Amino acid sequence: MRNEDGKKNDDYVDSLLHAFHVQFFAMNRQSVMPWESLEEILQTSDTSVIQDILQKTVLHPLCKKYPPSVKYRKIFLTELIKKHEATAAEPDDMLYEALAAVLCTEESTLCYTSYLLPTGESVTLCESIAAISEGTTGLVTWEAALCTAEWSIENPHLFSDRTVLELGSGAGLTGIVLCKTCHPRKYIFTDCHPSVLQGLRKNILINGFLLDSTSWDQTTVDFPNTSCAWSKELSVSVRRLDWATATEEKLSQLQADVVIATDVVYDPEIIPYLINVFYMLLTSRSDKTQPVIYVASTVRNPDTYQLFKDKLDNSGIGQEILPRPEKVLFPYDWASDIEILKLELEKKSDSYVNATI
Ligand SMILES: C[S@@+](CC[C@H](N)C(=O)[O-])C[C@H]1O[C@@H](n2cnc3c(N)ncnc32)[C@H](O)[C@@H]1O
Repeated sequence: MRNEDGKKNDDYVDSLLHAFHVQFFAMNRQSVMPWESLEEILQTSDTSVIQDILQKTVLHPLCKKYPPSVKYRKIFLTELIKKHEATAAEPDDMLYEALAAVLCTEESTLCYTSYLLPTGESVTLCESIAAISEGTTGLVTWEAALCTAEWSIENPHLFSDRTVLELGSGAGLTGIVLCKTCHPRKYIFTDCHPSVLQGLRKNILINGFLLDSTSWDQTTVDFPNTSCAWSKELSVSVRRLDWATATEEKLSQLQADVVIATDVVYDPEIIPYLINVFYMLLTSRSDKTQPVIYVASTVRNPDTYQLFKDKLDNSGIGQEILPRPEKVLFPYDWASDIEILKLELEKKSDSYVNATI
C-alpha cells in the first residue's frame, strides 16, 4: 500500500477518489465516507488530493447537471475544509469558493442521486430531499431497491427477454438499473401515487429512455395513467396500479413473466391487498403459466414482516429466501436486514381463502 518513501501509492489514492465520487453522488451518509483514509493520506502526501476530491465531487460536471441536495453539499464541503485546515498547508481558495457557491444556492425540495453501474454508465434519479413527502414514501430510493438492483445485475438471466412488472416502483432505481443491464423485453413500472408516477416518468427520461406520446395506451381504460417509452429492443411503460383496487382482469392483461417489488412490506393494513395482488398474478395468466415473484424487504419491524409471511402461507404462496448479492456496487448500509424472497404458488393452492382482506 505504501511506496518506499512512505507515500500512499497511486492505486490507493485512485480508489479513495472513486469512493468519494460514488458515495457523494449517491448521497451516502457522511459518517461512512472515507474521511479517515483521507486523513491518513494527508499525513504522508501534499494536499493536492483534496483538489482531486473536489474535481470528483462538487466540481464534477455531473454535479453541475444533477446536483445532490444543497444541505448535503454544504456538509460535505465543510468536512473537506476541516480536513484541509488540519494540515499545515496554506488555505485553499477553491474550497472556500465552492462552499460560498453552495451557501448562495437556495435549497429545493428535490435533489439528484446518481449511481455508477459496472458498465461505467450512471443512473440518475430526481428524488425528494425528505424520506416521506406529499404523504408518500415513493419519492426516494430505499435500500431494498439498491440491494435488488445489485442482485439483478448478478442475475440478468432471470429477466432477459421477459416481461417484468414492478409493483410500488417509487423513484424507479431498480427498474432503470434492470432495464440498463438485464435486457428485459418489456418493463412495466407501476405505483399508485400521482407524484410518484410523475417522478418515475421524469427519471425514465433522465436515463435516456425516449417517451413516445404517440404510443400512449389511451384505450386501456383500466390503466388511465399510462405512458410508454421505447428503445429498439425494449418497451418501458409507467402505469398506475393500486393494489387495493387491482383486479384479476387488469393484472392478467399485463402478461408478466417476472414480478418484482422492493420495500413494499411496511404497512400491516396494505399487506392483505398486496398479497391478493400476488395471488391474482400467480393465477391469472391466460396461458396458465405462473410468473415468478421476487420481493425484497428491509426488515424494520419483525412483527410486520412476520405478518406478511404468515399471510403468504395462508394464501398458499410458497417462499424461498434467496442469497443476497455477492458484490457491493452501490453505497448503502450492508448491515441492514434485507431479505429477498422468491414467491411461487404452492402445489395445493386450494387453501387460499380471499379472507386475507
Ligand atoms: C417504501 S416505498 C418503496 C419504493 C421503491 N420500491 C424503493 O424500494 O425505493 C413504497 C412504494 O409503494 C407504493 N405503494 C404504497 N401503497 C401502494 C398501493 N396500495 N398500491 C400501489 N403502490 C403502493 C408507494 O407509493 C411507494 O412508491
